Amino acid sequence: MTGIHVAVIMDGNGRWATARSRPREWGHRRGAEAVRRIVTAAPDLGIRTLTLYAFSSDNWQRPATEVSVLMRLFSRYLRSEAAELKESGVRLQVVGRRDRLAPGLVRDVERAERETVGGERLLLRLAVDYSSRDLLLRAVQAAAGASDLERQDMASLLGRAMHGEGPAPDVDLLIRTGGERRLSDFLLWECAYAELLFTPVMWPDYSAEHLADAIRDFRSRDRRFGNVAAAS
Ligand code: IPE
Ligand code: IPE
Ligand code: MG
Repeated sequence: MTGIHVAVIMDGNGRWATARSRPREWGHRRGAEAVRRIVTAAPDLGIRTLTLYAFSSDNWQRPATEVSVLMRLFSRYLRSEAAELKESGVRLQVVGRRDRLAPGLVRDVERAERETVGGERLLLRLAVDYSSRDLLLRAVQAAAGASDLERQDMASLLGRAMHGEGPAPDVDLLIRTGGERRLSDFLLWECAYAELLFTPVMWPDYSAEHLADAIRDFRSRDRRFGNVAAAS
């Protein structure tokens, strides 16, 4: 099945909550609801692969209470959504490091991945303890001594380093919510020719309509990949 790969930097949970005089953790809880909306809407918009940045390796620096709320939210999401994801033909994968996650969370990850393995409508990749630079380093280490490395080999090495299914897929559209215009160590290799879309909408407010608008915008762009525009 063809379809595009959309990656989302789900940013703005904390500021969204702070603006409402609530603790940042409340924003993360509401952010999890936005994840459900977006995952439901994605397949009908022609999205085949959806990679969501949920927790960066640098996010470990945050206060312990915020980190533990986020970890609990991941576990809860995996436990409560796996059956529903399976039902809707979504295959879930968690990409990133696993050795720093609590054993219980790793078990939840593995269980959800096993349960949804047959899903063919959408590949949902949740990036947790993810650092693109660290993955590139690990891929390079794994390739040490290899000569004649091709781009595809690098994608395969990256895919393996992040526990992904097959080679790391190129991103077609990268969306960042929350108003910042940076990549924050996300999918650096895979975004080589990604279309970039930055929106001020905070992640807890992100809706299926916002995603539909983003896809419309993406479809109107002329992707040249270094070539000249196709004659019309
Ligand atoms: C994104 O929202 C979620 C994570 C990084 C886990 P933030 O928590 O970064 O929210 P802001 O950017 O501080 O508003
Ligand atoms: C990137 O957001 C990570 C996630 C959305 C999970 P951050 O909020 O951590 O990024 P910076 O600190 O603004 O670059
Ligand atoms: Mg942020």
